[in-house]
Amino acid sequence: MLIGLRQALDHAERANCGIAAINTPTLELLLGAVKVAERYAVPMVLQHAQVHEPVNAIEDIGPVMVEVARRSSAPLVVHVDHGETIEYVERGFAVGFNSAMFDGSRLPYDDNVAQTRAVVELADGYGFGVEGELGIMPGREDGVESTGTADEALYTRPDDAAAFVAATGVTALACSFGTVHGLYKAEPKINYELIGELRRAGGVPVVMHGGSGLSCDEYRASIDQGVRKINYYTYADKAALEAARTLLTEKPDTYVFSDLTVAAQAAITADLDALVRCLYRVF
Ligand code: 13P
Repeated sequence: MLIGLRQALDHAERANCGIAAINTPTLELLLGAVKVAERYAVPMVLQHAQVHEPVNAIEDIGPVMVEVARRSSAPLVVHVDHGETIEYVERGFAVGFNSAMFDGSRLPYDDNVAQTRAVVELADGYGFGVEGELGIMPGREDGVESTGTADEALYTRPDDAAAFVAATGVTALACSFGTVHGLYKAEPKINYELIGELRRAGGVPVVMHGGSGLSCDEYRASIDQGVRKINYYTYADKAALEAARTLLTEKPDTYVFSDLTVAAQAAITADLDALVRCLYRVF
């Protein structure tokens, strides 16, 4: 069933858990994620990032995401991730998405405020929540450009977070506090104290981007400080690739591509199963 971003975050607040927000540009990621949400009957965000347009356009994969979410027994949000223009967010809403992130983090502060505010006004007309972003995180959400380390000078500042939330009316705020998109090439160093300060100053749930590749202890310590949505993609897709590679190595006579997609979906499901057990404190 479809639920809104606010409902999912309220659940996370009550349960002191983090909502898994999975990028699902392919059917394997989509069906793997939904299978795990249903297995544990937990709310989840299915999301499509603008940077994944070359994998599948939102007009192609988006209606499938919405239909799968509607039919599912699990409560699911269908969300535009890293919308870089208001037009892209509109494209998501046009195919049935009910939530969006506008990413103006690389714009000058005033432009980020103005454009995020415009997206909030658009979403208000539908009753949808909006996630904004402040502070810069290295790497892009397609996992190909990461330097693997975060620059503390670009972390989100609590005073800025307070002003940004007040000026834009966002439902949740993606912040920079030590995570990176893509692969970690060095040990992640998360500033937990900063997460707590950002949560208190902004007054809205904190979103962790670059959420794949951390340990369960790191997720839970972040959740305890106020992270309520955890964006996750690279390591699930990497697990899929490794499963496909193993299959081709062990069975070089494989002759149809769909054998790879079956192996990939099983690997994604296993990866996300471990994530969900951690984030939702399934013991
Ligand atoms: P990862 O690259 O760590 O999976 O992060 C994904 C993300 O933040 C999407 O917005």
